[in-house]
Amino acid sequence: MPNIVESVKKKLLEYNKKSLKKDGYDFWDNHIKYVFQNAHNLAIKRKANVEICELAALFHDMAMVADFGPRDEHEKYGAQMARSMLAELNYSKEKINLIEQCVLHHRSSQANLRNTPEEQIIADADVIAHFDNIPSLFSLAYNKMNLPMQEGKEFVKDKLARDYKKLSPKSQKELKKRFDTIMNVLFVY
Ligand SMILES: [Fe+2]
Ligand SMILES: [Fe+2]
Repeated sequence: MPNIVESVKKKLLEYNKKSLKKDGYDFWDNHIKYVFQNAHNLAIKRKANVEICELAALFHDMAMVADFGPRDEHEKYGAQMARSMLAELNYSKEKINLIEQCVLHHRSSQANLRNTPEEQIIADADVIAHFDNIPSLFSLAYNKMNLPMQEGKEFVKDKLARDYKKLSPKSQKELKKRFDTIMNVLFVY
């Protein structure tokens, strides 16, 4: 029997394939694969539950990928997807609850509702993913928003600065050197 993480990843990649065909945007390649890797690494580093973190990373934006429910409520619809998919795979109720909380609270607007290390790890992994794929932020600014050169640059700079502030103090400390380097290299003036 394939393991649970592989089963959920397979399902996510199916949704991703459809969404890529429809909208031309590759959620997995541009974002989720980085969140997944960061969640895995942070779980090990912080001695949290690796499987919970990996599964929550796969589910955190799944509602957007699957086009299930409105995008601005994707945390609620994603949590719903996690619950039903994991129950179908006979996953433990206790762990399903934990994953559901991770998905529900991954957005910065829900920061004060986080209670477990896994919830904070998913939120941090999500934000760090932006630093892992800076070209996609420029693509958003210039290709999707059609911003002029200087405004696009300001947009990415402000976004990264805001993202850095969203991180937990632990992650801010760990990312500090990289954050400063990125800012110094990309935004000299
Ligand atoms: Fe999200
Ligand atoms: Fe995300």
